[in-house]
Amino acid sequence: MLAERLRRLGQDHIADILEDESRRHEAMRIESDLGGVDLDLVERIMRGEGLAEVPPSEVRPAAVVPASFSSSPSAAQCVLAGRRLLEQGKVAALLVAGGQASRLGVESPKGCVEVTPLTGKTLFRVFAEQILALGRRFGRPVPWFIMTSPVNHAQTVEYFTANDFLGLDPRMVFFFPQGVLPSLTGEGKFILAPEGGLYLNPDGHGGVFRALLTSGMFDAMRDLGIEEIFTFQVDNPLVKVCDPLFVGLHSMQGACMSSKVVRKAGFDEKVGVMVEYGGRTRLLEYSDMDDAIRYATDENGEMLHWAGSIAIHLMRLDFAREVASRSHALPFHRAVKKIPALAPDGTTVTVEGIKFETFIFDALAHARTSVTLEVTRSEEFAPVKNLTGTDSLETSRVLQSKRHVSWLRAIGVDVRDGVTVEISPLFALDREELASRRAEIGDVITRDTYLG
Ligand code: UD1
Repeated sequence: MLAERLRRLGQDHIADILEDESRRHEAMRIESDLGGVDLDLVERIMRGEGLAEVPPSEVRPAAVVPASFSSSPSAAQCVLAGRRLLEQGKVAALLVAGGQASRLGVESPKGCVEVTPLTGKTLFRVFAEQILALGRRFGRPVPWFIMTSPVNHAQTVEYFTANDFLGLDPRMVFFFPQGVLPSLTGEGKFILAPEGGLYLNPDGHGGVFRALLTSGMFDAMRDLGIEEIFTFQVDNPLVKVCDPLFVGLHSMQGACMSSKVVRKAGFDEKVGVMVEYGGRTRLLEYSDMDDAIRYATDENGEMLHWAGSIAIHLMRLDFAREVASRSHALPFHRAVKKIPALAPDGTTVTVEGIKFETFIFDALAHARTSVTLEVTRSEEFAPVKNLTGTDSLETSRVLQSKRHVSWLRAIGVDVRDGVTVEISPLFALDREELASRRAEIGDVITRDTYLG
């Protein structure tokens, strides 16, 4: 049955293994891999259906609520509304953490990478401390949903278990793995992995919708009384988890899905930008952007598409469920990748493979209402993506310290130049909280200091 199906899909090299009695062991591995794959979907992709389209040339920049909004009276109203939702326990945090830290040269979940400048806390711990601090501040625990992938699920759960759930109530931390898809060669063939079985790639963070549905997490959210889902990526230690301003703005505008942006550092920065076409706000990914859009300028010669996504969104639970229940709601993006493969003679070779992924932000196309909020880069964005250079551990550590130094200076502490500072979210979640603890901090900081 399965072998026949594979032959119809042009995968004779796999069907041959399944039918070869002397390769039973390999066959079992492949069968088990295929058990987790939606072959109807693969067939669709192979027919070239459901692939992301080239954006039309008439894309315009999306409307953005400027960063200056945060000091307006309306913003104060939004903060109150956001706080109320948090006090009522209606906001969940959702981390997409299905990727590996391979760009950092580590084969562990990226959340286990030690990122803070003085104490070397991991990304997972930085988020956990924020979530813990939010729970204390608002009197209700914030449930934390963590999407893993089959590649890192066990390691992620193990990390939390070994570290006492980083101080969180284990009943409020929910792990669920995303789906996988086989990568294909340029000729559309499945690739055999050197360690046996098929080469499968996680189906992209857009896989979160199906994964939430099939794992029962939507039901868990409903049972907890969740209305809004705050989603974020694993690589940014400066994320303001469940930021009340953002939550309140999104909810007061009745938005289905909202996004945070910063002003792009330059035309070539590798971030998606918020655009508008077809009557909807959308995110145009940097890898899908042509030069006409990337380098477009306005009448003053300034960057036209400056609103760079920092991959932080809010979604209403009912909206997310609706997206999940629609079949083929999100298009597939193709990415060419060097993949280690098993050659017919048993050696390992590197092939050029294509992986197919969906992206969470493509759900914006289904959002009738959407808000885009600009935030200050130095306050909210210091991602760790590369081993060296831009967006590396080194740059992120410097930026984390810079933010904390600026908080301290803003409340009148004389922090000497060259000093590194790290503030635990459990000491102060934000500048306002730090101000309330002013008496506990000296007037001058002359050496590296951790406030925890
Ligand atoms: C991402 C965004 C980009 C944004 C930038 C901001 C995508 C495709 N692009 O770029 O628009 O401007 O961040 O920093 O997201 N992940 C999964 N499952 C997967 C694949 C990825 O959970 O199957 C998670 C990773 O663990 C990570 C995140 O998604 O948390 C980002 O993935 P990555 O592909 O590295 O995106 P970037 O190139 O950093």
